[in-house]
Amino acid sequence: AYTWLYQFPLPIPPIKQPKWTTTHPVTGGTIEYHEITILPLTQQVYPGKSPAKLVGYDGYSPGPTFKMNKGTEAVVRFINNSTTASSIHLHGSYSVSPWDGWAEDLTGPGRYKDYYYPNHQAARTLWYHDHAVDHTAENAYFGQAGVYVLHDPDELGLGLPSGDYDVPLVLSAKQYNSDGTLFSPASETTSLYGDVIHVNGQPWPYFKVEPRQYRFRFLDASISRSFFLYFERDEKPGEKLEFHVIGSDAGLLGSPQKTKDLYISMAERYEVVVDFSRWKGENVTLRNTRGFAADEDFLHTDKVMKFIVGDKPSGSGDTSSSLPSRLRTIPYPPDKSGIDHSFKFERTNGKWKINGVSFSDIKNRVLAKPQRGRVEVWELINGGGGWSHPIHIHLIDFKVVKRVNGRGVVQPYEAAGLKDVVWLGPNEQVTVEAYYAPWDGVYMFHCHNLIHEDHEMMAAFNVSYLAL
Ligand code: C2O
Ligand code: CU
Repeated sequence: AYTWLYQFPLPIPPIKQPKWTTTHPVTGGTIEYHEITILPLTQQVYPGKSPAKLVGYDGYSPGPTFKMNKGTEAVVRFINNSTTASSIHLHGSYSVSPWDGWAEDLTGPGRYKDYYYPNHQAARTLWYHDHAVDHTAENAYFGQAGVYVLHDPDELGLGLPSGDYDVPLVLSAKQYNSDGTLFSPASETTSLYGDVIHVNGQPWPYFKVEPRQYRFRFLDASISRSFFLYFERDEKPGEKLEFHVIGSDAGLLGSPQKTKDLYISMAERYEVVVDFSRWKGENVTLRNTRGFAADEDFLHTDKVMKFIVGDKPSGSGDTSSSLPSRLRTIPYPPDKSGIDHSFKFERTNGKWKINGVSFSDIKNRVLAKPQRGRVEVWELINGGGGWSHPIHIHLIDFKVVKRVNGRGVVQPYEAAGLKDVVWLGPNEQVTVEAYYAPWDGVYMFHCHNLIHEDHEMMAAFNVSYLAL
């Protein structure tokens, strides 16, 4: 077992710098050009054993963090110097379909593809990850995932913790072989929950923080594990500490939501503000809850990372403990009654399907044809068997309208913003509502348990200006 709990510091992925920037000849706007290379790397995870062999972006896992400003378009060349094909999805972006990372749009070894990202949405936390058909789970698990932060002037004007105090925390769970190398999920057909919890690629790290507010951007990049997180002081284990959720998949919430715990499933993003000024000189542990869903627990899967809180804040930054009471106005779709589509996610005859359809069933896999600009209500049903299915719908941001069975309620932090992934816990049924916009195109929707996705729990919808 891994016995070096809280012995190694939290890695912070480097910030990706553009190769050049230019001015759009027509709009006068700025365009950034980036290059990023899919490259193998090694990571010494178990001291004294063999290093793990990963494949990341620019040789990092998670990959470098992109920081973009709303209104600055980007072209990103993804150069594939790995030995397997790739497709890149910028999860959270309303990319036009040729640049959305369609699973069969593969870029082979030694080749590259230029992706265009509009960066015209409100500030949010996105992530880029591999989406190659049938191999997404292995590729993401072995390192092809990274954070992409979009800022906008309204968000920057709120005075939220920024710079070194705005930190991505990418969660993942993996399993290792006894020689220190990574166990591959390639032959798994249901789930790989993983007994080793990583944050930014490091098992159970520690992070030295100042006694002040921090903005953490949680992303669950695990292939199968969900988390039910809470913070506790080491002096008072079991007593959950208060924090605020300020953002989710589609950016800031309408207002901060005070909570003591947080559900986060695969591909979901939650931004939180934690005020460490209350625990000067103490240690605070981020914990996970045992037995709250389908996930298999192991010796240390109830632990995530440790925060070592200093005695005084350094420098002169704003260390106030307040938060704005309003963050932004959420562009909710108008209430609409009735259900436009109902989708059941289930395992039948050893295959993961959506309404009985597999992604390889090319003739039948387009399951919805929303007219562009229309609001649709989709009902997502977990077909049972004790599995979690976090459902991601590409292109759109949806409102989580209701949840029945299972936990039975929409959490306040799910309702206070828009999302692009919703967690269908065991037996749950969730209703989501969205504008199908802004572009025409064929887009994927699927389970974000990447093993389920690779085993065909994925389908498509076709947005068209015409009523099809
Ligand atoms: Cu994050 Cu279709 O994926
Ligand atoms: Cu699933």
